[in-house]
Parts: sequence; C-alpha cells; structure tokens
Amino acid sequence: MDFSLTEDQQMIRDAAREFAQNEIAPVAAEFDRSGEFPVDTIKAAAELGFMGIEIPEEYGGSGLDPVSYALVMAEISAADAAHGTIVSVNNSLFGVPLLEFGTEEQKQKYLVPVASGKVNGAYALTEPQSGSDAGSMRAKAVLSEDGSYYTINGKKSWITSGPVAKYVVFFAQTVGADGESAGISAFVVDAEAKGYLRGKLEPKLGIRASATCEIELENYRCPVEDRIGDEGQGFKIAMIVLDAGRVGVAAQSLGIAQAAYEASLEYSRERKAFGAAIGSFQSIQNKLADMRMRIEASRLLVMQAAWSKAECKKTGQKNTLNSSMAKLFASETAMWVSHQAVQIHGGMGYSKELPLERYFRDAKITEIYEGTSEIQRMVIGRLETGLR
Ligand code: CAA
Repeated sequence: MDFSLTEDQQMIRDAAREFAQNEIAPVAAEFDRSGEFPVDTIKAAAELGFMGIEIPEEYGGSGLDPVSYALVMAEISAADAAHGTIVSVNNSLFGVPLLEFGTEEQKQKYLVPVASGKVNGAYALTEPQSGSDAGSMRAKAVLSEDGSYYTINGKKSWITSGPVAKYVVFFAQTVGADGESAGISAFVVDAEAKGYLRGKLEPKLGIRASATCEIELENYRCPVEDRIGDEGQGFKIAMIVLDAGRVGVAAQSLGIAQAAYEASLEYSRERKAFGAAIGSFQSIQNKLADMRMRIEASRLLVMQAAWSKAECKKTGQKNTLNSSMAKLFASETAMWVSHQAVQIHGGMGYSKELPLERYFRDAKITEIYEGTSEIQRMVIGRLETGLR
C-alpha cells in the first residue's frame, strides 16, 4: 500500500504551508482578539486558488483533487482555524451543491465568483429550533401560482460567513404548485436582494475571525431558476454536501492538532524544571507519545476519507462512513491534543501570549459544527447496523 503524496500534492501542501505560516500565522492572534473578518488574507488565499480548490477551472476554481483540498485545509488551519473555516465554507458548503446539482447558468452566475474568491458564499441549514435534527426546519418556500418564483420566509442561525456572504445556499420546506408539501428544497439567495436580512452576530468561544450570524428571509422572492436541484431534493443535497464538508472539517482538526503538538514538542525540549528539560520526564513523554499517535491515526482517516471521496465520485457511491469517521476521530483528537498541549505549557498554555489557548478554544467547534460527535456516532452506528 502506497501512502505517499504525488508530486503535485506535495507542491500544493508546501505552497499552502508557506502561505499560511508567512501570511496567516503572524496575524492570527490579532484577528482572534478583534473578531474581525480577515479580508486581506482571505483575498490572498483566493489569489492562490484556495477558495475553490476542487472546483474545475472553468467554474473559477483550481481543479485539484480532494486530497489536495484536505492538505490545504490542514495547513491553513494549523496557522489559524478561523481562516480554515472561511476557506471550507466557500469550498465545500457553497461549492459542492452548486457544482454537483447546479445548472450551467447557476454555476456561471454563482459558483464562478465564489470559487474564485471574489465574493463569499454561505450555507443556511440550521435554524434556532433545529440543529442536529436538520429535517425539522421550518423555513418555507411557496411556489407562485404561475410557477415562476418562490416566496421564502424563515430564520437561519449559526451561519458561517453570514455577515460577509454575497450568495447563500438556503434550505426550506417547499409548498409546490398543487399547494401540497413538496419536502425540503435548496435555493441560492442573494444577500443584496430585497427580503434578505442579516440578524444578530454570534459571539463565539473560538474561530472568532470567522464571521457568524443569523439570517432571515422575509417574503424573499426567489426565481424558480435559483432552485438547486429538484423540488424536494433539498435534504439529500444537504446531506451529500455535509459528507463532503466533513472531510474538510476533519482536515481542519488535523491542522489544529498538529500545530498544538509541534508547539508542545518544542516547548518540552526547551523548558527546564528540576534541572532538566521537561521533555525528559516520563509524564511529558507519555503525553507526547499519545498525541503523536492519535494525530497519525487522524491523518490516516482524513487521507482515507479524502481519497475515497474521489473514488466515490467516480463510482457514484456515498462517502458517508469514511467522512463521518474522519470527522469524528480527528475533531476529538484536536480537542484532546490541544487540551494536553495547554497542560504541557502550564501557565504559558493558559496565557494569550502563546497560541495554545486559541488552539484549545478553536478545536471545540470541530466537535460541533457540520454535525456533532453524537450525530457522527449515530450516522456510523446506523450504517454499521443497518438499524435506526
Ligand atoms: N447522502 C445522501 N442521502 C442521505 C444521506 C447522505 N449522507 N443521509 C441521509 N440521506 C437520505 C436518506 O437516504 C433518506 O432518504 P429517503 O427518504 O429517500 O429514504 C433521507 O435522506 C432522510 O434520511 P434520514 O431518515 O436518515 O434523516 P434523519 O432525519 O434521521 O437525519 C441526520 C439524519 C444524519 C441526523 C441528519 O439530520 C444530520 O446530518 N444532522 C446533522 C446536521 C448538521 O450536520 N448540521 C450542521 C449544519 S452546517 C454547519 O455546521 C454550519 C456551518 O456553517 C459550518
């Protein structure tokens, strides 16, 4: 079995590392403090093609493979997880539904500007009363009598990049031409159009530079051409998109864990206590050994999920199992490793002078968004048993 990266994959990883360490890492603490959206570094990421890594060049992206996407996500997130979140939303949560289910016209109009990073995209599934139980959303899209537009009403919460997004993939329960419920459908909505309202900003524990807010549609008039896929296909689209997105979150988690581990390794060699480097103590070596081992296990699951994402695309199979396993294991590893890293650094781990406390705060979201750890276990358990 060959685990090595291709030359192209190594090149893109090295380019992402150089960019992330030189451009993002130096400003990460300041953006974490201010909670401002990092406009300039995201623009620079777009210039390198990182806002549409797997999107074909004809639609504004870089046309690379899922392994390259995972490598870039890990490198950017090792420098700053908030940048990783912004990159992942454009790439997967907005890019995948348009690429996989959009019409040619939708791709030209919406995917090209988002994948090229000219504007930001977002994905609106969660509502104040429905997070894990996504299917119970209340937002409603009612088809007009002449069948030419939908009137959409409803509130969405926790929308990553919501405050800065120009286009949003929005899910709603649909009332079709016959006045009957037609299930959930997906739409592209324009944040500058009438009836689109940005709501309250979410103050967050971590990934503070990624902007998050509520959004509300009030009698938003959505032309029927802006529905993505068929009427009633929305829930499946949402799930297929999350299967792709969770690989990105898994890679983000890997990046956070790697950064926390590398800082711990260096500190354990330099910091002295009782006349010796703390890294010579068995209690610290045990922690470092477990951190390294769990990170490598995460890396294998992340790379497997990215590789199988490409294979599934060829065969038409679902990547759900590998995607959920990678997201679950890597996110819990990021949380555990960053916790150990704070402990190894002692008081300095708790201080804002070093990035350890930021890694610890940022890691937490990876166990929550794009499906909590509990939901990933449910997905894996259902697939394994065939029971519900
Ligand atoms: N791919 C394709 N279809 C799928 C699918 C998948 N991965 N998972 C389910 N489906 C299909 C099923 O086959 C089923 O189809 P039929 O009706 O034809 O049989 C249909 O969808 C309904 O499936 P379930 O009965 O399994 O649905 P459920 O209501 O039990 O929910 C769930 C399943 C896995 C719990 C789902 O609700 C879920 O993933 N919840 C978590 C939601 C989530 O991740 N939210 C995060 C939002 S994004 C975010 O975090 C914001 C951000 O900006 C970063």
